[in-house]
Amino acid sequence: MEKIVAEAIMKMNAFYQQTSDARRHDINHFLKVWGFAHTIGIAEGLDARTQETLELAAVVHDIACPLCREKYGSTNGRYQEMEGKPLTRTFFEDFDLPAEQLERIVYLVGHHHSFQNVDGQDYQILLEADFLVNADESNLEHETIKTFRDRVFQTKTGRQLLENVYGERSAA
Ligand SMILES: [Fe+2]
Repeated sequence: MEKIVAEAIMKMNAFYQQTSDARRHDINHFLKVWGFAHTIGIAEGLDARTQETLELAAVVHDIACPLCREKYGSTNGRYQEMEGKPLTRTFFEDFDLPAEQLERIVYLVGHHHSFQNVDGQDYQILLEADFLVNADESNLEHETIKTFRDRVFQTKTGRQLLENVYGERSAA
């Protein structure tokens, strides 16, 4: 793991400690999403910069959840996308990221509940990683998972992981 990612993970933990009434959930959630994103990105052969962008976005993707719960009483995706962008900018202020990379992370946080016009592997993999975790946390029905797989999942690794976690159990 790159040091910058570890730094972001530690800072995100501290952020949720300070802001979240549901910090156990929020911290466990982002670490699971990051773990899937990390794995899918490596397995799919992303270049180093895209991999880092993906991982940093995965760490902060739900940064707006505590604020949205407080302000709107809801973590609805649209609120999160809107509120997440400025929070992401502030979060990475002391990380010295290249401007282009920071913009991409902000964009990903601002679109992580949008399933159309997915314009890059980092975006695609973030959606898949988040769903791999949300399907369990939201106790989704098998049919819902299959529909989402057919409509959204693109990477071989993401599909394989989804099958491993939620598909039929194969014989030993
Ligand atoms: Fe999430």
